Amino acid sequence: MVRRATAIYPGSFDPVTNGHLDIIERGRKVFKHVIVSVAVNAQKQSFFSVEERLEMLRQVTQQWENVAVDTFEGLLVNYAVEKNAGVILRGIRAVSDYEYEFQMALMNRSLESNVETVFMVPAGTYSYLSSSLVKEVFGLGGSVSGLVPAVVEESMKKKAPAITD
Ligand code: PNS
Repeated sequence: MVRRATAIYPGSFDPVTNGHLDIIERGRKVFKHVIVSVAVNAQKQSFFSVEERLEMLRQVTQQWENVAVDTFEGLLVNYAVEKNAGVILRGIRAVSDYEYEFQMALMNRSLESNVETVFMVPAGTYSYLSSSLVKEVFGLGGSVSGLVPAVVEESMKKKAPAITD
């Protein structure tokens, strides 16, 4: 396969889950470069700071030479153009994701027609997995083992030890 395009894989990654990693791994086999980029949104309350999210992403993707980690602010399509990326990569887990993703893809296309959105489907085992559910389960004392990389689980425990004691 000739891998031409650079793809941006944008998201909140609060925190990165095994579902995200599955998409990154699939994406890196199809695209020349994948830039995993954390959206900086001061309006949105997050569990992990942007720096913490970046650090975890760096750790869990360091074995892949064509994957980079970055942040962006403002419009995603402007960032994609700045990075010379022709593709926005998004994961779709279930039909329920589709409506929102469809709207975003069309909005992004109307803003910048040269950037194409490509959807990938993660392994079925991750079809129910989201960062929000991981945080909820963790907050209620449930195990997130197998749902997030070990380094993320450790960071969650460090950040909120009282919840897990
Ligand atoms: O992981 P998420 O929260 O589903 O990611 C959503 C994200 C960050 C990809 C989306 O909110 C986004 O692209 N934000 C940047 C601002 C922007 O370009 N908005 C217009 C998109 S239609």
